[in-house]
Amino acid sequence: MSTESRNTERPEAPERITEEYRMLHRVAQVLQTEGDLMGMLQSVMKTLTGFEDLRVENKAGIFLANNNRKVLELLTTYGEFSDEFLEKDREIPYGDCLCGRVVESGELLMSENCFQDPRHERLYDDMTPHGHYIVPLKSGTEMVGVLFLYTRTHPAWYQHSREVLYSIGGLIAAAIQKKRIDLELSAYRDQLESLVEARTAELKQTNQKLQSEIEGHKNTQDELRRSRDQFRDLGNQIQEIREDEKARIAREVHDRLGQALTALKIDVIQVGKKLESRLPDLKTRIDGMTGVIDDTIESVQQIAMELRPPVLDAFGICEAIAWQAREYESRYPLRFEVQCAELPVALEKGLETALFRVFQEAVANVVRHAAATRVSVRFVVEGERLVFSIEDDGRGIRPEDIDNPASLGLVGIQERVHPFKGMVTFSGKPEQGTAVTVTLPLDAGSKP
Ligand SMILES: Nc1ncnc2c1ncn2[C@@H]1O[C@H](COP(=O)(O)OP(=O)(O)O)[C@@H](O)[C@H]1O
Ligand SMILES: [Mg+2]
Repeated sequence: MSTESRNTERPEAPERITEEYRMLHRVAQVLQTEGDLMGMLQSVMKTLTGFEDLRVENKAGIFLANNNRKVLELLTTYGEFSDEFLEKDREIPYGDCLCGRVVESGELLMSENCFQDPRHERLYDDMTPHGHYIVPLKSGTEMVGVLFLYTRTHPAWYQHSREVLYSIGGLIAAAIQKKRIDLELSAYRDQLESLVEARTAELKQTNQKLQSEIEGHKNTQDELRRSRDQFRDLGNQIQEIREDEKARIAREVHDRLGQALTALKIDVIQVGKKLESRLPDLKTRIDGMTGVIDDTIESVQQIAMELRPPVLDAFGICEAIAWQAREYESRYPLRFEVQCAELPVALEKGLETALFRVFQEAVANVVRHAAATRVSVRFVVEGERLVFSIEDDGRGIRPEDIDNPASLGLVGIQERVHPFKGMVTFSGKPEQGTAVTVTLPLDAGSKP
């Protein structure tokens, strides 16, 4: 059967047109599948070369256009090609031979016979006579490459076949471009992913560093807290020792010194009686001596009292404060008003001592700094709390005095009540006075 005669016989045969469009549809189908581009192109070339009415031999190939270098680069071939061809036609400059012309013109090219067509510039040793369809692969206005199909020599052409070939070229070009975009996108995605990865690693590292810094800070903080607690304990211990020592010295001074002085006084009086008639001069001096001994006894009692008032141990905090207030009134131009509530619980000795010392320190400040005339002392129960306050009507403590870490007297007040969970506030109003308020949970300082 002669294909040429058949073509000339049925140039517009509807079956042929139908067949061509069916092929176009198959090519479109292949190119629309998701998958590897090279596999798809092989499949397309197989479809095309298998279509008899296009008069192609079982050989085809695709070049990609490299617009920077102005060359066509062989992408893939279908069918038997000689090594010589594959080597020489790896690249074809724009304008060279049939394919080079198509990439420049963008037009479909048909060549009847490679040995007779002067445009077919590239010849090979084992070349057999053949014709060509060189199809531009054009996506929009962009030349993506060319598809070359081998035909028999002197094929007959049909006008509508051109459209089909153009369409096929367009489909292939679009598929190649889509692949390129996909590749570019996935490269971007990879780049992005590795960027995100690097950033994540960086963040993780920073995070770890921060974590260990925080850990370090926490350790330092713990250490600080520990050593502050230790200092506090030490301070409390020293206070306790001092209080014991004061109590001991007060007893010694009061008892031993007091007794010794009393004995001395009795002796001196005895001696005085005996000397009375004989040496009136000495008598006067002895009277003087008993006076000095009396004064000394009083001083000793005063000293003992100040070291630790026995009333504190004998009667408790309220009586001790009342006694101390009377003492202050006799010494300073101050009037005291003391309000002391009946407590529902007996307080621990340590807490009574602490509150008594707070009172003394607060009044020492009133005397030294306040220029006050009245002091009001309240010792009351409010709900579950004990509230102990010392208020004066003096010039008022300033905020900067309260916040000053060098205000050691104020710090001492706070430290005194800290072991009993006591909170201290200082507040002052200019020319209206100062209030020192200690608040304690009732159960913290009660006797077990
Ligand atoms: N009742 C008060 N009235 C006015 N100012 C006071 C009073 N109590 C304390 N201050 C002020 O607070 C400062 C700190 O008191 P304090 O820590 O006891 O230190 P010091 O008594 O050794 O000066 C005092 O120097 C004084 O200026
Ligand atoms: Mg002070």
